[in-house]
Amino acid sequence: MPTADYQTVLDEIAHEVRPLLTQGKVADYIPALAEVSAEQFSIAIYTTEGETICAGDCSKRFTIQSVSKVMTLTMALQRYGDELWQRVGKEPSGTAFNSLTQLEFEKGVPRNPFINAGAIVTCDALYSRLSAPRHSMLETFRLLAGNSGIIIDKKVANSEYEFRHRNAAMAHLMKSFGNFENDVDDVLWSYFNFCAIELNCIELAKAYNFLANKGVDYSSGKRVLSSRQNKQLNSLLFTSGLYDAAGDFGYRVGMPGKSGVSGTILAVLPGKFTVAVYSPGLNVFGNSVAGIAALELLSKKLDISIF
Ligand code: DON
Repeated sequence: MPTADYQTVLDEIAHEVRPLLTQGKVADYIPALAEVSAEQFSIAIYTTEGETICAGDCSKRFTIQSVSKVMTLTMALQRYGDELWQRVGKEPSGTAFNSLTQLEFEKGVPRNPFINAGAIVTCDALYSRLSAPRHSMLETFRLLAGNSGIIIDKKVANSEYEFRHRNAAMAHLMKSFGNFENDVDDVLWSYFNFCAIELNCIELAKAYNFLANKGVDYSSGKRVLSSRQNKQLNSLLFTSGLYDAAGDFGYRVGMPGKSGVSGTILAVLPGKFTVAVYSPGLNVFGNSVAGIAALELLSKKLDISIF
């Protein structure tokens, strides 16, 4: 599809979602996130031919929150391959992203790598194989997004760490079942720093372009994941990327996706593009109201989906 047509569609979407910007509620369980205004919107596409198309305030940076879990899983798969699945499952949870209940019944093995417990245990695995996890994660994003100036929002990382009790409870429960190798607070500090990495929509879509490109990064030509692992990761995103709203998102959007409580969502159209959207007002599942609507509109207007 010509870039100009994508541009027209994104501009239309930015206009059409405007009434929704007041409908969601910004996350307030992380005090530093509660200070953000809900009335913001941006959307960017990064095609498998290296083109960028965006609408809204595309230079606006935000912390990527749970969208970092996709890179955590990527880096863990690079180091462990299938062995990782002994520590974390591949099934949808049907529960909220920060739920603790299944962990007790399922002996400290989280349902999937995208709920908080699953991402934290994946961080623990990664922590065991990296000498400087924060540095490695930041450098990975800088390289893939093509911007050496990308930073971590220290205020958000500190705020998350200060109010870490629920995530700490998950990690301690996993440790009690023998599914946690490192010091809980050290791993949580890494996890929160990954969540507090700041990108704009263009950088986010670009950083994850390999997901649409069979595991190869467009700019560098470097293989990030094997084609098989890339398929597996996209499949897990489709079934679990939006937690207990994954079914509704899949139904409406028809693409694998990952949301974050800052109000961002990343979606993948294999062979064509990655798309990142940002709008901080959330629904009760912790997913961006305007973000989901925008991706549904994109899917409708372009008549695209993975099916
Ligand atoms: O650990 C947390 O709760 C946050 N840092 C990330 C959660 C998140 O983004 C859930 N996504 N919708």
